Amino acid sequence: MSKVLIVDDDKNILTTLAVYLEDLGWEVLTAETGGQALELVGRHHPSVVLLDLKLPDQSGLEVLEKIKATWAKSYVVIITAYATIDTAVSAVKLGAFDYLPKPFTPAQVEHLLSMIQKVDSLESEVESLKDRLKGIERQGDFVTRSKKVRALLKMARQAADSDASILLAGESGTGKGVLAGLIHGWSPRAQGPLVQVDCTVLQESLLESDLFGHRRGAFTGAVENKIGKLAQADGGTVFLDEVTEMSGAVQAKLLHFLQSREFTPVGDTTPQQVDARIIAATNRNLEQAVSEGVFREDLFYRLNVVEITLPPLRERPGDIELLAELYRKRFSREKGGAPKGFSKDALTTLLAYPWPGNVREMINAVQRGCIVSQGELITPQDLPPNITGSRGSEGGDGVLRSLEAVEREHIQKVLAHTHTIEEAAQVLAIDPATLWRKRKKYRLD
Ligand SMILES: Nc1ncnc2c1ncn2[C@@H]1O[C@H](COP(=O)(O)OP(=O)(O)OP(=O)(O)O)[C@@H](O)[C@H]1O
Ligand SMILES: [Mg+2]
Repeated sequence: MSKVLIVDDDKNILTTLAVYLEDLGWEVLTAETGGQALELVGRHHPSVVLLDLKLPDQSGLEVLEKIKATWAKSYVVIITAYATIDTAVSAVKLGAFDYLPKPFTPAQVEHLLSMIQKVDSLESEVESLKDRLKGIERQGDFVTRSKKVRALLKMARQAADSDASILLAGESGTGKGVLAGLIHGWSPRAQGPLVQVDCTVLQESLLESDLFGHRRGAFTGAVENKIGKLAQADGGTVFLDEVTEMSGAVQAKLLHFLQSREFTPVGDTTPQQVDARIIAATNRNLEQAVSEGVFREDLFYRLNVVEITLPPLRERPGDIELLAELYRKRFSREKGGAPKGFSKDALTTLLAYPWPGNVREMINAVQRGCIVSQGELITPQDLPPNITGSRGSEGGDGVLRSLEAVEREHIQKVLAHTHTIEEAAQVLAIDPATLWRKRKKYRLD
């Protein structure tokens, strides 16, 4: 609640109000035309818009409607010299908060803004009480009503306070990346950097230099000294994504860092000290990777001082509808006139589907539903065919097959029809790292 946009073609009003409101601590944006105003609303999402009804390029009511379609959360106050009751009523019908007839004093504007702030804080209090009644918890972008996940969030918040390493486990798309961001934000290191290292996409030697940095001339192509991600994260957090994919050599070097808080860049001889907290994530079973000898046991114990395993979406059915609605609303905000909900059948379909790609797959399905849907509601026909189960679950002989068998065949088909891993991953609505891992698992390479 701090940004206000003033739209008026009278420069005097713009400057006087801007100065006055800036002194009160508001961040002020100004526009002289409807076009400029809409651009600023799209870019800055102001919480309040003071809108003159009479603008040089378009009618104020038109601009009001467009503002509401772009950023519905803005409180719009109409200012006009022509405040007939009629226009004021139409403006309020179109979603304006109130109107202010000209001439007005800055003090009147101040009073209105403080009323808006009160209304806004009451509204968000009501929202959060409603959430609480329904057992919903919201943390930034992360939403859940699952008891289990709420308990995990609580544990994550406690762990955030310390410098202990945290291991985030869970299937692909369950929200490990979002949770890592939340933990960093809750931690005393929040003002420091959060640096992400994806351990899958890089080859062993590249990963080592990406993480620890290198000296000029350390290897062919090392034309300059390079600061590694670990050093960049000094005072903050390093998020090691897909940590199971690290080679033995990099694992050893990371273990050494965790024991001594020291590391040596590739090609260097002097060790460096860095104060970085480690959060690691994996969608593989790390215990199993340890028992198979792929992952060092000592490193595993260093990384999972606190272990948080996010359950798959199919094990928290309450979150399916919640998240589907959240993302439907988000997409409809971006695209005016989008569907207003899901049909009963569509919801049943969403609940029955096992969601191997978890929330990421759900976001994709909902986006498709919003785009394809022709009516008020999203119906099963609007959802991706694999979700409606219209094909793919039976082999040619009519025998029902396992999820893995279907997944393998589907991935194989998509790989055959696409040119790059990135493209295939996009079609499958999973991230490239996950596809890379599944390809290995199913020996499709
Ligand atoms: N509880 C949630 N509420 C809202 N959005 C969520 C939630 N969990 C995940 N998402 C969204 O789902 C998508 C996938 O989440 P994220 O990338 O964190 O998953 P991940 O576990 O890291 O998956 P991967 O292992 O494939 O990288 C993101 O767009 C994220 O914002
Ligand atoms: Mg991730």
